[in-house]
Amino acid sequence: IKRMTTHVIQEMKERDEKITMLTAYDFSMARILDAANIDVLLVGDSASNVMAGHETTLPITLDQMIYHASSVVRAVKRALVVVDLPFGSYQGNSRIALESTIRIMKESGAHAVKLEGGAEIQESIKRILSAGVPVMGHLGLTPQSIYKFGTYTVRAKEEAEANKLIEDAKLLQELGCFAIVLEKIPAKLAKRVTESIDIPTIGIGAGPDVSGQVLVSHDLLGITKDFKPRFLRRYLNLFDEIKRAAEQYGDDIRSGNFPNEKEQY
Ligand code: KIV
Ligand code: NA
Repeated sequence: IKRMTTHVIQEMKERDEKITMLTAYDFSMARILDAANIDVLLVGDSASNVMAGHETTLPITLDQMIYHASSVVRAVKRALVVVDLPFGSYQGNSRIALESTIRIMKESGAHAVKLEGGAEIQESIKRILSAGVPVMGHLGLTPQSIYKFGTYTVRAKEEAEANKLIEDAKLLQELGCFAIVLEKIPAKLAKRVTESIDIPTIGIGAGPDVSGQVLVSHDLLGITKDFKPRFLRRYLNLFDEIKRAAEQYGDDIRSGNFPNEKEQY
């Protein structure tokens, strides 16, 4: 198997080949998604919501991200593994950003990190890149800033915010980021951004005119139930299927059907 690298990701954009990305937080799921040839596995800080049940991404710690990342790395044979720097581990202090990144790289074996934001965090991005660690950017709806935004609604509908986003995307490219996630922005703006830069854009709720797409795996699989944004396509309803399996298991125990003659020693 040919391993995915940040260079392959950039070549895919040049060849107009779409990039596929999904979140992964644990060994078993990462194995399946890697076997499905998903190009990039993102150890997202959405683990804070999906794995730990927090309302926002803010509480997850660097140690917890490293635990998730190392589990994913052990499962992967092909995918590029990108890890979110969690809230508080990079903003406002490039030295702390580099220390956090070095911990992730050394302790998990991941291949790249992702940071939310543009101009505000350029010192952190520069310092991480200068250590030889590839950086993925993240613009638009950046969930670590939820208390600044006040809502998870679509971002950059106004001219001023849209222009800043384009400037930020150009800056991230100039700094040396290998790709940028664009979250929940108008499709037209995502197209403009993608045409304004040479590095790939990965959209989530950003329409089709980007270099690739990302979704939270638990949303795509229907393990999460109440989260129903317009951009989400559910490929399975695993919540109901798993519930049915557990109910059946319970019924079989109570009826004496499980274990049967062959299921014992
Ligand atoms: O944490 C996450 O899952 C993400 C993706 C939605 C891009 O950052
Ligand atoms: Na994230």
